[in-house]
Amino acid sequence: MTAVSPHLSSIHSSAGTRRGQSVAFEGVSKIYDDGTPAVESLDLECPAGQITVFVGPSGCGKTTTLRMINRTVAPSTGTVSLGGRDIHAMDLTELRRGMGYVIQDAGLFPHRTIVENIATVPRLLGTPRREARRQALELMERVGLDQHLAKRYPYQLSGGQRQRVGVARALAGDPPVLLMDEPFSAVDPVVRAELQEELLRLQRDIEKTIVFVTHDIDEAVRLGDQIAVFTTGRLAQVGTPAKILTDPASDFVDEFVGSDAGVKWSSLLPARDIEPFTPPEDLDGWQLVIDDEGRCQGWRPPGAGDHLVDCRRTVRLASDSLRAVFDALLLSPCHLAPVIDDQDRVVGVVDYASALRALDRQREASR
Ligand SMILES: Nc1ncnc2c1ncn2[C@@H]1O[C@H](COP(=O)(O)OP(=O)(O)OP(=O)(O)O)[C@@H](O)[C@H]1O
Ligand SMILES: [Mg+2]
Repeated sequence: MTAVSPHLSSIHSSAGTRRGQSVAFEGVSKIYDDGTPAVESLDLECPAGQITVFVGPSGCGKTTTLRMINRTVAPSTGTVSLGGRDIHAMDLTELRRGMGYVIQDAGLFPHRTIVENIATVPRLLGTPRREARRQALELMERVGLDQHLAKRYPYQLSGGQRQRVGVARALAGDPPVLLMDEPFSAVDPVVRAELQEELLRLQRDIEKTIVFVTHDIDEAVRLGDQIAVFTTGRLAQVGTPAKILTDPASDFVDEFVGSDAGVKWSSLLPARDIEPFTPPEDLDGWQLVIDDEGRCQGWRPPGAGDHLVDCRRTVRLASDSLRAVFDALLLSPCHLAPVIDDQDRVVGVVDYASALRALDRQREASR
């Protein structure tokens, strides 16, 4: 066998990485052998280089649909294609090599070290051991794992670390498509948020076609370029997160996105076009206290001497969402939120009126 993984050495820089290919379902149905209908007449395109999230209640056919992409489940009718080619006309080994697969609990090989786990596919593809190891170490760094973990076994890692290994292993071999089935469901919310952030950061460089299954709408909104909402074997709606949240196609979707759809939507809206201003002199006596380096010390309540109320939240308009701005305003004792720059220096404040004007502008722009 020859080494057929020339792409991986360059995965560290985005140049040379195999960008995603589109995945499409046309008239796809799946009825399991025992007669269970899992998917009915599915038409859906997962665009190349984007994250499509399948979301929906338990048993609605998300995993079945995902597994029809790598042919671990065969459709009863219809066509699944990859980059315009019918996957059933493709060589199965070639197809699977082009698809990384990450599942809940990572599914690592328990008797192999972390570095061996990650190097599995390159080794199968014939990459020499030393080179495969070097690539695996590079990938560890890439997914935020310290290299000192390389020689450990999966049971010696935390759940979050194991999921990172799962992602690194799926990326080894540089597949154009990543299939992820509830990969972050088993970890706590803090680690989960970190893993989501990491995946988005990684995806900005590698531009794979990612199909991501979850039953968590927050995760779908956070990660998806496109969300496909499933309801028992059918698509209830396909669209951008903003579309799903602000214009649900049915009562089912409306109920599924939850009662705080508006708040979720505000997390998608950038705050960058809000202009910070200097706090007015008369703020019912409240004063923003800043140290010599321009950093926020707190709010001094009216007539309270040296006692300061913590600012709790400051906002960076260049990178924060409108949700973060509203959050800071809600927690502020005086209806103003301090705005800071990259060096944490206060550059001004924002109020509800300026945040609402920004919201209106975004609403106008999306019409
Ligand atoms: N091998 C199988 N044989 C028969 N029925 C199956 C099989 N696998 C799944 N099903 C059924 O197909 C339907 C869809 O299952 P699937 O696993 O795709 O759902 P899911 O949306 O991934 O659910 P969950 O969120 O619980 O993982 C369910 O009714 C399930 O019981
Ligand atoms: Mg499932």
